[in-house]
This record gives sequence, C-alpha cells and structure tokens, in this order.
Amino acid sequence: MHHFTYRNGRLYCEDVPVTSIADEVGTPLYLYSYATIRRHFSVFDDAFKGLAHLTCFSVKSNSNLAILKLLALQGGGADIVSAGELFRALRAGIPAQKIVFSGVGKAPHDIDQALQSNILMFNVESEQELRTLDGQAGDRGTKAPIAIRINPDIAPKTHPYIVTGLGETKFGIPIDDSPAAYEVAQQLGNIDVKGISCHIGSQLTEIEPFLDAMRKLKALMKDLEKMGIHISYLNIGGGLGITYDDESPPHPSEYAAALKKTLGAKNVTLILEPGRVIIGNAGILITRVLYTKSTSHKRFVITDAGMNDLIRPALYNSFHAIEPVEMKSADKVKADLVGPVCETGDFFARDREMPAFQPGDLVAVMSAGAYGFSMASNYNSRPRPAEVMVRGRLYSVIRSRETYDDLVRGELIPEFLGDEGH
Ligand code: LLP
Repeated sequence: MHHFTYRNGRLYCEDVPVTSIADEVGTPLYLYSYATIRRHFSVFDDAFKGLAHLTCFSVKSNSNLAILKLLALQGGGADIVSAGELFRALRAGIPAQKIVFSGVGKAPHDIDQALQSNILMFNVESEQELRTLDGQAGDRGTKAPIAIRINPDIAPKTHPYIVTGLGETKFGIPIDDSPAAYEVAQQLGNIDVKGISCHIGSQLTEIEPFLDAMRKLKALMKDLEKMGIHISYLNIGGGLGITYDDESPPHPSEYAAALKKTLGAKNVTLILEPGRVIIGNAGILITRVLYTKSTSHKRFVITDAGMNDLIRPALYNSFHAIEPVEMKSADKVKADLVGPVCETGDFFARDREMPAFQPGDLVAVMSAGAYGFSMASNYNSRPRPAEVMVRGRLYSVIRSRETYDDLVRGELIPEFLGDEGH
C-alpha cells in the first residue's frame, strides 16, 4: 500500500502532482510520502501488539533526518551499523535506549561513541570484538550491554549479496560456537549479557526462514539458561521483503503472527530491525528524460538520473517498476532506461516494455525509498539528488540537492604541488 496514485492520468504523491514538485525542485529527485511511511511503521509495529517488543528501524535503508524523526515520533528505535548512523539517530530524537548496534567491523571510535551515548545494546559479531568492547567499557568505567549476533546457517532465497545468515558469510558467530562465546562474555567484567540477535538476509519473501531462525534462537536461549546465562532480548533482525514486481511477501501481520506463535510464551522482549518494509515503497525516484536514441539493436531512453543516484539495478540487477509521471498514451515500446554515467551497468531497466518516453518527460522509478539515496554516491562528480517529503497537500525539501562546492568539500591542493610551469 502506498500513496503514489494516478488522478486523471497524472501521478500524485498524496495530494500533490509529482510534476509540480519536479518543476520546482528539479530532477533527479527522491520523493517520499509521509502517510505511507507512517502507515507502514504502524502496521508493522501494531502487528506485534500484545508482545513486549521494540521496532528498531534499520537506518542504513534510509538515513534522512526527517524520516528518522517521523519514525522517532511514532516510537521507533534504530538499528545502526556505524557511529555516523548513531549520530543521525540521536540527532533525529531517537532515544539511545532504543538503539541497537550491529556490524562485523565496529572501529574503536564507533564503540566509544556508542558507549558514551548509552545505547540499548551492541550486537557483537566476534570474540575479538567482545574483548575490545570489554576493554573500552572498562576504560570508561562502565559496562557494555550486549547480544551476540549468531549466524544460524539458514539459506533464505534472495540475492546472494544480501544473504547474511548463511554459514559461509562474514556475519555473526556460528551458532554452534556461540555458547562458548557467551561463556567468555559472562566472564568479562565489563560486559552485560542481555540478548541473542540474528539477521538472516534482506528482501525475504517467505516466512519459513524467519521461523527457522526463531526456533534456533529459542533453543540457544534454553541452552544458555541451563548454563546460568539469562537472556532478556531476542533480536530477529530485519529482512521482510516488499513487492517490487510480482513478489508476494507475507504481510507484516502474517509475519508477526507466525513469529509470535513460534516464540510462544517467553518472558523476553522481541527486537525487530525492519528497513525496506517500512521505507521501500514509500519513496520513488523522479528523473527527466534527456534524449532517446534507437540503434539497430535497441531503443535507449536516457535520463538525468544514473547509477550513482540509485545503484540497485546495477549492483543486484534488481527490478524497479518504471512509470510515467504524465500518462500520454497507452502504447508501450521495448527499451532500455539508462543513465548518463560512463558505465554499461548504468541502467534502471533493460529490454522492458515502457511508455514511448520522449525528451522532457518525467519518469518515476518506483520502490526506491530503501537503499536508494542511502547508497547514492558522487560518482562521475554528480551532486546527489534532492529529497522531498510530501504530507497531504504540503511538501518540503528534506535534503537539498548537492552543489558543486559540496562535491569538493574537504579536498585540498597541497602546497608542494606548487605552480611550476604556469
Ligand atoms: N538488520 C541488519 C543487521 C541488517 O544487516 C539489515 C540489512 C537490516 C537489519 C535491514 O534489512 P531490511 O529489513 O531492510 O531487509 N542494499 C541492499 C540491502 C542490504 C541489506 C543489508 N542489511 C539492497 O538494496 O537490497
């Protein structure tokens, strides 16, 4: 469900025609719907009602302050993977006690910032990290609350780059080795064991792998209790998929019901780390057609957005629906929708039936709210796009389009280059 709909052949975001925003703000442009974000968060969070739980939005999926603020206002927490994400989450008003910190490579300064902020817990991914954390907490005269992120060795069906819970990936501590790691944790003086965490992958469209993971967490919890280690939080991670094309992922209410049933009556708080399911279909990328050209092989539609603005198709060959902002005719032609970046991988759609776009037309690249702007770069020295949020008839720029000065910020020309020869 989202609030990008057609009225008389014109695409609207809530009550605002997309064309008017694009004309004012320029393109490329990320556009988010307030009502969609709110709805997605509340549908997800409400589905876990009756169970002690904390919904920690995965900041990596979209880290814009306005979006984090909106989720904070709804009671959301944050799943972070760096001190930079911590900075954003706190800046947006997410309480530190609702922040959990994952990641295989937390650097000393990341750890220090998180300790100083008094976050809810660290999801520790190796024994060395555990010892580092213990040392740094000791230096600060505090205790570090932790879960151990276990790798449950589950193989969900998704793109190989975003499977995380398979034994051969770099994430977590193998579940069979984890009791030993918990024993170490228990003995370290500055570590406070709170929970077990896992995250098995992203864009999962079936429930069963989540339930497998939940069963494994429960079994481990039982074993740990026998060892005298008390667990008060179970973190099942994020990963619930969305519809980009014709996928039919479980509805959050089905997902929650199945998880609740599998968990049973346990005296624990469940932590969830959804990203994509909250923001994926709440954002779109608007781009303008610059040129078209037809060769003996193909028709190309060349847009002013490129792989630097939305890298998912180039990186994962992922599907994003391509829609016209103004419907002009029902005719469709097969074409490649490509960007201006100097790489053959710079495409949004290949050999796809799409409207016969002409120069100047606006195109909506759908389902771009998650891992869209947050993975954007300045490749080809392209300033990153503006971001806009719409609420009803109102809209506001929530991140200005970057300028050329932004492009060179921090770059310095050393004196030793001199000015010889000039
Ligand atoms: N928790 C942890 C520890 C994670 O690593 C992730 C995502 C999430 C939660 C949120 O997962 P979600 O609910 O959004 O599926 N760039 C890729 C996705 C990478 C996901 C990485 N981890 C893409 O564009 O599809």
